[in-house]
Order: sequence, then structure tokens, then C-alpha cells
Amino acid sequence: MGIVKVLTRQPYAVHIENDILQDVGELLRHEGKSVAKLAVISDEQVWSLHGEALQDSLKKAGLSAVSYCFPPGEAAKNLGTVSAILEFLASKELTRADLILAFGGGVVGDIAGFCAAIYLRGISYVQIPTSLLAMIDSSVGGKTGVDLAAGKNLAGAFLQPNAVYCDPELLSTLPEEIFREGMAEAIKYGVISDPELFEALLTWQTHDPLEPIITRCIEIKSCLVAEDEFDCGTRQLLNFGHTIGHAIERCSDFKIRHGQAVGIGMSLMAEIAWQQGWSKVDCSGPIRKALQHFNLPNKMTFSGKQLCDSMLRDKKRQGDQINLIIPEKIGKCSLKKIPVSQLPQLFG
Ligand code: GLY
Repeated sequence: MGIVKVLTRQPYAVHIENDILQDVGELLRHEGKSVAKLAVISDEQVWSLHGEALQDSLKKAGLSAVSYCFPPGEAAKNLGTVSAILEFLASKELTRADLILAFGGGVVGDIAGFCAAIYLRGISYVQIPTSLLAMIDSSVGGKTGVDLAAGKNLAGAFLQPNAVYCDPELLSTLPEEIFREGMAEAIKYGVISDPELFEALLTWQTHDPLEPIITRCIEIKSCLVAEDEFDCGTRQLLNFGHTIGHAIERCSDFKIRHGQAVGIGMSLMAEIAWQQGWSKVDCSGPIRKALQHFNLPNKMTFSGKQLCDSMLRDKKRQGDQINLIIPEKIGKCSLKKIPVSQLPQLFG
């Protein structure tokens, strides 16, 4: 089993192992939660595919859980869903001694984590991610939250999970498109921190093992999160491709998925960084090649003005400044603060 420790103020472990779902009940008991009430938060799709396996695992360990499921997709990531979940938790009389299990992809993890952060002013939660994107990114690091009408992830809180259990076997039921969007995040880790990972991704084939890739991505994320838990500095490197990516998602009315949008964002940012003389080498070619390897798009049809208008509403904007993540070369990125007034010139 691969275990990556995340050394935040309250440290925790990310466990990566095929079929670990079968042992999650036992592992939770070892976490000292055998007497607690458990509430699983999931989406209807994940629950219909894997809910029984999770319940069996809990039962085997003498545990049982109440469950709340909402429709799959980004549209559910709002305060209405949060409110319904909080009422559910209260109706089941969950206390601060109890535990939420976030069982699903990034949307489920973000919503369930946010509910854990605010229910009774905070109760514990464990992440059991079921998508590649959630395994290598959103389940680790304690960013939780929901979208507002004004933009993505605009309401949220930091709350680290007590543990994360990644079962790569669960990815076999993922639709191809959703699996591939996770690979865009894996490419991101290669560009920001690890040229060898980047090279390995260029030759990765469908039947190659995923655990080493997942483990390496989580190692990189855990280092950045431990260094900057509250996202004030180096953790922002994880946002490479995301400012443009979020703008693309918004412009497409969320028809372009997060990973696909981040892929396009990385490619566009690399092009701009090279044109501006901010990069030591032109990273746009290698990034496009990696995206193509996973059938991910590297272009979109929105105008520079549409993107800029959308970027101005990004939560990473700080007053009249915005942080861009610049690829200096494959394996090294840096932060660059620019005035928002410069955006139209970059994206014109
Ligand atoms: N997904 C970026 C972060 O956790 O900081």
C-alpha cells in the first residue's frame, strides 16, 4: 500500500491501494472512529455504482452509516445542496464526535468537506475519492466549498480531512472523458514540479498501472500543502492553468469540464509566458503533446475579451492584481503577480 503523509497542522495520511474500499471499514476503526455515527455524502451515480461495496466494507467492520445522495454534476455544488445536507445531518443527530465520509468525485468532496467545516462549527470527515481528479487533487489539502451564481468556489473553508482512501480500481467505472480530465491535473504536476512524471505521462498507456502516477501527484501536492496550508504563497503553483481554466468553464456555462479547461489553460498560459519572455524555454509544445496523448483539447473558441471579463471575477484576483503561474521550464513554475489592467494586452 502507498501511504503519503500530509504534514499540515493536523497531519493525516493518504492511502493508495487497489481494492482498499473493501478495507475502509477496518481502517476507519483503526482511526478510532468505531463508536462514532457515520454519514456518507455521495452522488446518485457513485452511490449506485459503489454504494453497496462501501456499505459491505463498513458492515464487515461492525459499522453502519446513514447516507445522503444528490444528483451528479457541478450544478449541485451550491448552497441549496449544503443546506439540505446540514438539515439531514441534524435530523440524524450527528454530533461533533461523529464522522462524515465524502464518497465521490471532486464535487462531492468539496460539498461534503464544506458541510463538515460548518456543521456544528466543524466535525471530522474522511475523503474516499472515486475520480482520478479527486484522488490526485481535490481530496487532498482541505479546500472545501461551493459555487455561487457569481463564480466557482466562491464560498468555502479550509478543513483538512482525517484521512484519504484512494482505490484506483474504482476508476475502471469512470467514463473515459472524466478519467482523461484527471490526466490534465497529472500533467499539471509534471509541469510544476517533476519532469520525470511529465515524461512518464507521455508514454502512459491505458493498461499501465496508475498507483505510481497517483502516488507521485499526491506526494507533490502534500509537499506544497504542508508548506503553505492556507494558500498564501507556494501552494498557488497548483493553480497552474486554473485561472484561465475557470474562465473557460464559466464562458462555456460549465459544458467544458474542469480538467479539459485546465488543459487549455496550461497550454495558453505557456504560450503567453513564452511570448512575454517569462519562460526559459517554450513549454507550450510539450504541454500540447501531453494533452494530445490523452485526447485532451488545447484550444477553445472564446475571445480574449470573454476570457478577461471572466478572469476578473476569479477568486485568485487580489484587488487590482492577479497571480499568474508561469512555466519556466517543464518541472518548474513560478508565481507572477500582474496588474489586472495588463490582462487584455496578454489575451488580446
Ligand atoms: N486544487 C488546488 C489546491 O488544492 O490548492
